[in-house]
Amino acid sequence: MAFQKPTGTQDLLPGSVEKWQFIEEKARDLCRRFNYREIRTPLFEQTELYVRGVGDTTDIVEKEMYTFNDKGNRSMTLRPEGTAGVVRAYVENKIYGEPDVSKLYYIGPMFRYERPQAGRYRQFHQFGIEAFGATDPAIDAEVISLGYQFCRELGLQGVKVEVNSVGNPEIREAFREKLLTFLNPMRESLCKDCQSRIDRNPMRVLDCKIDQDKFDDAPSILDSLDEECASHFDKVKQHLDTMGVDYDVNPRLVRGLDYYTHTAFEFKAAGIGAIDTIGGGGRYNGLVSGIGGPDQPGIGIGIGLERILLILENQQIELNAVKPLDVYLVALGEAAENEITKHVFKLRQLGISAERDYLGRKMKAQMKSADRLNARYTAILGDNELERGEIALKSMETGEQRTVKLDELSQHLI
Ligand code: HAM
Repeated sequence: MAFQKPTGTQDLLPGSVEKWQFIEEKARDLCRRFNYREIRTPLFEQTELYVRGVGDTTDIVEKEMYTFNDKGNRSMTLRPEGTAGVVRAYVENKIYGEPDVSKLYYIGPMFRYERPQAGRYRQFHQFGIEAFGATDPAIDAEVISLGYQFCRELGLQGVKVEVNSVGNPEIREAFREKLLTFLNPMRESLCKDCQSRIDRNPMRVLDCKIDQDKFDDAPSILDSLDEECASHFDKVKQHLDTMGVDYDVNPRLVRGLDYYTHTAFEFKAAGIGAIDTIGGGGRYNGLVSGIGGPDQPGIGIGIGLERILLILENQQIELNAVKPLDVYLVALGEAAENEITKHVFKLRQLGISAERDYLGRKMKAQMKSADRLNARYTAILGDNELERGEIALKSMETGEQRTVKLDELSQHLI
């Protein structure tokens, strides 16, 4: 019987995995520059963490979680997103005791039981950052600017940043009433999804693609903000302006997770079929205390790496991710082969990437192998060269060949 990977998952094979390494390195380098430190949390957590953290009426918790009972009969869930686990770790490890703002990042797989399509998987990868302990709107803008810079440095074209303020829970409750007054009379004319969402989360109804044109006169949450929320949002926008980060205000923007307060935002780009969101996030001032921690504010973003890669591919952006082999060593004869073993190891110890033949192939086949590996040089050792302590070095780029001292080979390769 031949096995197949589970639906909605991918094997990341050599040849394309280099692109993953490239964008992961870019993410790490950006985090270094922005002073975010890495955190690694478990791939599964107690189910209750997500029910309380992400929200029990969200699609994620209602329909999409990989939940199982472990052998101790505890309900566990594969992480559907990164924030809740990081918040749990922040509380459990008392990271909030740090005198500075705690700025953390993660890169890794997340799991959601969704209907797979282009850009949507059941195991997917997020690059995310979370900043705890500050209410300063400058940090909201910093988080957005990091996502913006990530897209720019990868060369993505046409990425749009949409920002909104979803206020605080009291404001949202009052807005919900206003919105229901607007939506109730048209309830029957709305699509099935909207009808089921209207009581649970009427703000998400405004996001519906089908009924969009019916909501022109809908009330805007931005008109319902109190002075504090409005001023916070104004300052976030000012900081974005100061940094030259382009954005649009979208008062209809609602996120699919319940924990957001104040700033909410999304990064969108055309080019992956029906799906256009490549990342999103916002502030979550009630989440840390909501899962039993101290009253500490937080803000973060999660970016889907599969979607980034798909857009890079569609926009035909080459990443230069595959690094060529420095040298392929070819041995002609048994004595030379022994010598080659030593030199391949030595070169590798010196930081040079080196390969040799293990299949007993003739020189011509070995040269082809060097070609396939995109080697910068081949070094050919025969009996004559060996006797003189030399080796023939050929540049695969120019075809130029010269003889160099065997002991000095590494110096010609750096
Ligand atoms: P999210 O909007 O649920 O937010 O996910 C963030 C990103 O993960 C999405 O924009 C998308 O690129 C990617 N993503 C989500 N589901 C899938 C899927 N099934 N297949 C492929 N990619 C997917 C969060 O997860 C929040 N934790 C973000 C955050 C961090 N908010 C504050 N801090």
